[in-house]
Formats: sequence, structure tokens, C-alpha cells
Amino acid sequence: MKKILVTGATGFVGQHLCEKLLASHYSVRGLSRRGDPGPLPNLPSRAKIEWFKGDLTEAPTLLLACQGVDAVIHAGAMRPLRGTGGFEAHNVQGTKNLADALKHAITQPSGPALLIFISSLAAGGPTPERKPLRQETDSDSPTSTYGRSKLECERILERELSTLPWISLRPPSVYGPGDDAMFSFYKLISRGIMPVMVPRTPGLKSKSLSLIYVHDLTHQILQVLKTMDGGRSTPSADSTLLAKPENFRNGTLARNVFYVTSQDSIPVPELTRTIARAIGKRPHAIQITPFIVDALLQIARIRKAFGFTRGWNSEKLLDLIPDRWCCSAARFKETFGDPHPTPLEQGIQTTATWYVKSGWLKSPFNSL
Ligand SMILES: NC(=O)c1ccc[n+]([C@@H]2O[C@H](COP(=O)([O-])OP(=O)(O)OC[C@H]3O[C@@H](n4cnc5c(N)ncnc54)[C@H](OP(=O)(O)O)[C@@H]3O)[C@@H](O)[C@H]2O)c1
Repeated sequence: MKKILVTGATGFVGQHLCEKLLASHYSVRGLSRRGDPGPLPNLPSRAKIEWFKGDLTEAPTLLLACQGVDAVIHAGAMRPLRGTGGFEAHNVQGTKNLADALKHAITQPSGPALLIFISSLAAGGPTPERKPLRQETDSDSPTSTYGRSKLECERILERELSTLPWISLRPPSVYGPGDDAMFSFYKLISRGIMPVMVPRTPGLKSKSLSLIYVHDLTHQILQVLKTMDGGRSTPSADSTLLAKPENFRNGTLARNVFYVTSQDSIPVPELTRTIARAIGKRPHAIQITPFIVDALLQIARIRKAFGFTRGWNSEKLLDLIPDRWCCSAARFKETFGDPHPTPLEQGIQTTATWYVKSGWLKSPFNSL
């Protein structure tokens, strides 16, 4: 049975990922700053995980963590919703520490043979002007400190890992059971408010974004793991797919970076209407103009000066400025096969049901 080290195993994506790996008969070592973290809402099989106490900012702990595993999935990071600082220490230096540990581990006979890095669309930036979707060939222009830190992580991997095949997946906003970012929209809508984000671009009808359902993301990570056979051998799968470990060594493929999505482009009004339907509400539309976003950003910056950085802080609000956060998953499909993503309506409904069952949304909803 193949053993996978997962960093960020206690996080929103990490919990779903570990559960999926276990269900697919992988054995999992979970890196956690607390060792065994105790019960986690989206990881009922927690007890089957080998919990490894380690911190991305403490290099020596990673040396041991990387030993005796077949592949590493690096999902641990500081995200904007958790605060406005720490991107350099946890993301950039954390990834450098992990790369150093991997360089050491691959010299051992039982060292890992593949690294999958969970990057972000934020590393690339919003959709370039005059293009329908951002693609891997577009030049990167991150707009936030977080985005720049994720791009720097990829550059570190490019620089440091010349012999270990590595792949960077760049998801847009991830939603699903346990997500506390898009939950803000569910909460507002459940209180009868439908935020309508007014675009900045003259003549543009609505803002739009790419989304990925967390189960699709974990499925796609697994698809990479399986197609690459954990990096150890050339898979016998469909020979038209480009995903062969040797193609990821020494930059044979133009880039090791892939955008992953469930839906490449959703108009924001369609998303909010879908959430409203899922929770059985008919909310009142309230326009959020660019002026309001700018004012909120100023307030967030003042709050930051007083030490309040969680939730919709200045880093997170920066994401509301671009009109289009849309990327294309075409290259992933070509390389690893069709991921058959979950329809939006179904993903949103399952998520809404989870919020209600878990007590995050308290009001009774007529459709649930
Ligand atoms: N959620 C999204 O919408 C989204 C979108 C695009 C990309 N991503 C990327 O997907 C990955 C997972 O995101 P998420 O939503 O699951 O984030 P999350 O819920 O905030 O979880 C972050 C995880 O990283 C761990 N971590 C942070 N700093 C660490 C350190 N110094 N040492 C060890 N572990 C550390 C946390 O551990 P503790 O439990 O100890 O805090 C936690 O397990 C991240 O790389 C993120 O950048 C997420």
C-alpha cells in the first residue's frame, strides 16, 4: 500500500483529501502542528492516520516526516481568511524547508517519488483583459501578498527540485462542507440579503469566477497521483495523456502548473441565486458597488493596524476588486483525463445541507 504524506491535513481541503486517500486504500501520514488533532468534522477516519507532529516553519521536523513515504501532497499554508501576515514564513519559507527535506529524502531508497503542491489561482492572478479564461501560458500577475507567496513557492520548487517530479495544481475558490470562506455568502443569503457585486469594467454585465467543489479537487489530486503512479513508473493508462513522470523531470513539459476547476466561469449572480435556492430563501438584492468595496478595504486596513486580521480582512477584500477570476481547466483535462466535475447546483446543495446539519446555519429552511 502506498504511503502519502499530507501537509495541511487538519485544514478544510486536507481533511477531505485524507478521507479520500484512505477510502482509495492509500496509507496516510498527516503533518500537524498539534500531533493528533482530535476529532475533525470532515475526517471521520482520523484514527487511521499516522499523525506526525511537525511544523513547516521548523525544518528539522520535515526531514523525518518525508522519510518512508511514496509521495507528498503539500496542502499546508497560511490563507488570507486566517490572517494578513505569515505568508512569507508559513508559505514561502515553509515550502523551502519542505523542498530541502525532499532533496534529502529522495537520496534514500524509500524516499518519495512525487510532490503535488496545492497552489492557487491567486498565484496567477485574475483573468487577463480581453481573454475569456486565464491559462497556464498567461504570464503570472498575482494581486495579493498571499498570491505572490504561492507563486514564490512554485518558483522554489522549480529551482530546488530538478530530479523529483512535482506538479502544482492551482485551484480557484474551493467550496464544500467545512468551507468557512464562501460560508459568508450562505449566511448573508440566509439572513435575506443577496449581495450583488457591481463590476468595475464599464459595460460588463456581472462579475464572474471559477469554482471548484472540494470533492472534485480531492478527486483531481488523486487522478494526478494515480496517473503518475505516485511518480514511480510510467503508467499504463491512456497513452494519449501527457502525464508520465519523466515528463515532469527537468522541465520537459513547458510548465508543471495546472489550473483545476469544477466550473471555469460562473457569473456571480448565478452563484448567489443557486445558494438562495439551496437554502430556500428569496433574499433582497443589495448592490455592492466598487465604492463600497474600496471603503471596506480602507476599514479593513485600519482594523489591521489595531490587530484585527481574521475573516474578511484587507487581503481577502483585495480579491473583490478584479471583475473576473476565471481560469481554464483544459490543460489538466488533456494531461490527466476528464475529471467529470460535480454540477454547481449539486455541490451547493450538498454544502448547504452540511452547514445546516453541522449547526453553522441555524434557521430552518424549507428545502432542507
Ligand atoms: N480553500 C480555498 O478556497 C483554497 C483556494 C485555493 C487554494 N487553496 C490552497 O489549498 C491548500 C489548503 O487550503 P485550506 O482551505 O484547507 O486551508 P486551511 O483550512 O486554512 O488549512 C491550512 C492547513 O495548513 C496548516 N498549516 C498552516 N501553517 C502551517 C505550518 N507552519 N506548519 C504545518 N501546517 C501548517 C494548517 O494547520 P493547523 O491546523 O495547525 O492550523 C491547516 O492544516 C492551501 O495550500 C491553500 O493555499 C485553498
